[in-house]
Amino acid sequence: MASRPDTASVTNDGFDRSIVLVGMMGVGKSTIGKLLAGKLGLAFVDSDEEIEKAAGMPISEIFDRFGEEGFRDGERRVIARLIAEGPKVIATGGGAFINDETRQLIKVQCLAVWIDADIDVLVERVSRRSNRPLLVGKDPRTVLSELMAKRVPFYEQADIHVRSDSGPHARTVNQILEALA
Ligand code: S3P
Repeated sequence: MASRPDTASVTNDGFDRSIVLVGMMGVGKSTIGKLLAGKLGLAFVDSDEEIEKAAGMPISEIFDRFGEEGFRDGERRVIARLIAEGPKVIATGGGAFINDETRQLIKVQCLAVWIDADIDVLVERVSRRSNRPLLVGKDPRTVLSELMAKRVPFYEQADIHVRSDSGPHARTVNQILEALA
């Protein structure tokens, strides 16, 4: 059966492309991605973890040593490699889909899913982890609100849009499965 790139990534033989989760930091892309991959029988990868492995250092150190620009460059190369490896579920860092080249790679070769949430939900969720360089020493609500205003026009270009409220991530996974069906 021929693939239907404009509607879904499912063929009789399974998925013909990766499903790439995009959206703000703290929204739950990695947790949701793992659950989604399990439901679909696909492998799961987190692009931030893959960048850390490739660079041999944590993201905070990549930002310190090479700046955000250096990080984005590595992020684009790692995401391109993950896509080329074959269909899987990929959770990306919050800024990946904002980079023009990375977004084009994802839009052309994958199915992009924007996971969206209210600012209150994001602020609550980022408070559980303190290692995000863009938030260090800053008020998370201010930074997240500013980033969100800038990023939404890019996230809107994803193929699928789901909302993740403060309920269980499994609910968001079901929304994605419904959108894929
Ligand atoms: C970033 C989000 C982070 C990580 C880096 C930059 C961003 O990933 O890629 O700190 O620009 O929003 P998460 O979205 O997984 O936190």
